[in-house]
Amino acid sequence: MQNSDKTIKIEDIQVSYIDIGPDDGTAILFVHGFPLNKTMWNEQVDVLKEWYRVIAYDVRGHGNSGAGTQEFSIELFTSDLINFIGELQVDKVILCGLSMGGYIALNAVKDYPERFEALILCDTQCIADTPEAKEKRMKAIESIKENGVGQYADESVKNLFASESFSTRKDEITAVKKMIRSTTENSLTSTLKALAGRKDTCGILPQIQVPVLILTGEKDKITPPSVAESMHEKIINSTLEIIGNAGHLSNMENPEEFNKYFMKFVSELHLKKD
Ligand code: MLT
Repeated sequence: MQNSDKTIKIEDIQVSYIDIGPDDGTAILFVHGFPLNKTMWNEQVDVLKEWYRVIAYDVRGHGNSGAGTQEFSIELFTSDLINFIGELQVDKVILCGLSMGGYIALNAVKDYPERFEALILCDTQCIADTPEAKEKRMKAIESIKENGVGQYADESVKNLFASESFSTRKDEITAVKKMIRSTTENSLTSTLKALAGRKDTCGILPQIQVPVLILTGEKDKITPPSVAESMHEKIINSTLEIIGNAGHLSNMENPEEFNKYFMKFVSELHLKKD
């Protein structure tokens, strides 16, 4: 999958992305979580590319995308996404975001609803950081500066994965540690500040008109199922599925179940459209 990486200039950065599958297929665009990159979607891309145009990109400062010189914020990441969609010359996309990717997706649908055919929100939330959560982010920034990115990677996986995944999903844990270690200290700390400063998007949920699938790991410690249920209650046209044997990275920890619900949702959208 690495070989099919492409780049495109968006404002002050080169964005790294993949764009595979039939050109005339419905476009599905993936936005990764923090502090990961587009390769977290490999298990989904492999399955979907046969039928759909599948696009996954690295958010500014992550993976192989440039960091640029502007201060990171969820608004900046959202504007990058909208510019990226503009460059791809697609009319509408099905947008799928996990965690930080979901924060970006909710901001995008708030400001540019006409760009999206449907949304898939995975292990994410609409609420902003509480003062305690902000405090934790500032401590994480201090710790990265003091102890380095390697220790941050080792600590992060404890929260990202369900405990049983440490014996059943060793390769995924190694891959995620590698993704975190390959992110620069500057991008990690700048994104932590951006996450801490993000705004609440719960108010827009009742206005979302497109179909929404909400997926969340049953053992997600960062955005637990209760958070997903409260979003489901607020979004009129939404379906909620809880992924078994999975924590925060539900698409990597249980790709079989994740892909089953994903495929069902997107194929039914297609049927309704045709
Ligand atoms: C993520 O997976 O993107 C992060 O857990 C988001 C966050 O820390 O709020």
